Amino acid sequence: MEKEFVIVLDFGGQYNQLIARRVRECNVYCEVHPNTLSLEEIKKMNPKGIIFTGGPNSAYLPESPTISAEIFELGIPILGICYGSQLMAHLLGGTVSTAPTSEYGKTEVTTNQDSVLFQDVSHTTVCWMSHTDYIAKAPEGFTVSATTPVCPVAAMENPERRLYATQFHPEVMHTAEGMKMLSNFVYKVCQCKGDWQMSSFVEDTIKAMREKIGDGKVLCALSGGVDSSVAAVLLSKAVGKQLTCVFVDHGLLRKNEGDEVEAVFGPEGPYDLNFIRVNAAQRFYDKLAGVTEPEEKRKIIGEEFIRVFEEEAKKIGAVDYLVQGTIYPDVIESGLGKSAVIKSHHNVGGLPDYVDFREIVEPLRLLFKDEVRNAGRELGIPEYLVSRQPFPGPGLGIRIIGEVTAEKVRIVQDADAIYREEIANAGVDKGLGQYFAAITNMRSVGVMGDERTYDYAIALRAVCTSDFMTAEAAQIPWEVLSKVTSRIVNEVKGVNRVLYDCTGKPPATIEFE
Ligand code: XMP
Repeated sequence: MEKEFVIVLDFGGQYNQLIARRVRECNVYCEVHPNTLSLEEIKKMNPKGIIFTGGPNSAYLPESPTISAEIFELGIPILGICYGSQLMAHLLGGTVSTAPTSEYGKTEVTTNQDSVLFQDVSHTTVCWMSHTDYIAKAPEGFTVSATTPVCPVAAMENPERRLYATQFHPEVMHTAEGMKMLSNFVYKVCQCKGDWQMSSFVEDTIKAMREKIGDGKVLCALSGGVDSSVAAVLLSKAVGKQLTCVFVDHGLLRKNEGDEVEAVFGPEGPYDLNFIRVNAAQRFYDKLAGVTEPEEKRKIIGEEFIRVFEEEAKKIGAVDYLVQGTIYPDVIESGLGKSAVIKSHHNVGGLPDYVDFREIVEPLRLLFKDEVRNAGRELGIPEYLVSRQPFPGPGLGIRIIGEVTAEKVRIVQDADAIYREEIANAGVDKGLGQYFAAITNMRSVGVMGDERTYDYAIALRAVCTSDFMTAEAAQIPWEVLSKVTSRIVNEVKGVNRVLYDCTGKPPATIEFE
């Protein structure tokens, strides 16, 4: 049976992977490709449907990204979104121009329910708009299928040619019935059957990795976090003992974490892996001495990681591939997509210019966190590992504001262990995306017993999020915060103040640096 899938052609918008993910949520495999893909390549791939993404350009300007109008003759259903809808209109003879009134944010859209795209969608529905240009006139042969008071063509279609377009973004959560519209496109227009599951991704990736790696040797950067654990188990299923997992204890792990990771992946654990633990704390502390700038710290930690791996690889000999558990938000926030650099995630943008491996393999690069967890479940990784909260590669290095010292590491480890213990005891961990303690660079005056103190302030953070791209500060019960505070100031030497971070992302980020 031919495998069915939909492709997303990338015209530079920020939600491109999100579109692919929403289609996968409809149980149809989907991946993003550049808009420069040739028609020949598209024909060879034989997708069931194509989606044009949004983008920041104006479709009518000659320098804007485009595609041959012959794509509309292939007989493959196409859905254009935002810029993609304007491009479709422009290429087929409609009129695209600057809108007299731009629309941003949640907007009420009136839909025509005779349209297949809007079947079972409310007549008036809230959609997410973000545009300065608009389709002033739909091309010949098209009918308008949705409008807003200021947008005459909020959606248009030519059902005979199976061409559909929406000015708004059905893929974002704020479009209340967006999933229904995408599902109508893939099922009712593209006639997909919806037989894709996360298990297919796991099977296909194992097969692809086996083919790629052949009889080569692979090194996996294992941190014990969800992403690298899933990547390691995936690779071990693909190439067995050709894989060696290297776990670098950089001295920036949570309390007892080094031993916990070793207990799962080491020789006593349930997996039959080549596992090497490298205790490199002092080496990292030496490199970080005196460094306070967050990006510099990230780059130093990222580079040192790679150097340690390279050394281990040399000891093993003839290692061709380095596997990393990079996932999609790491890629986008490191600015490797077209968005601005927020932070250099050490397993992506923080890589040194020269890396001594034939290739870096990132099998989870297209997945979002919750998709990675599902892949982990498919692989039979125990639930307590799969549902663990994320821990960043640079570890406590980015939860220690300012210079990293062994003393500050000890303080933040102890405070964080207390915080996690109390959150678990109170049973409030379930609804939280991530929660941890950080040490601020602020010392302030306090009084303990009859003595004046001049000690550090610990910042507690807890956020609710599912995609980690945006987050809200969690409302932790006051009794819990109060108990954590008194335990930290009593039990952790060097701390006399505890603060709670109430900021969301944006404007803050989840980690402090
Ligand atoms: P921010 O702080 O950017 O974090 O809001 C978003 C998510 O990414 C994690 N994070 C990282 N993960 N390497 C990683 O593997 C990194 O360098 C890194 N920096 C942040 C962070 O913990 C949160 O889950």
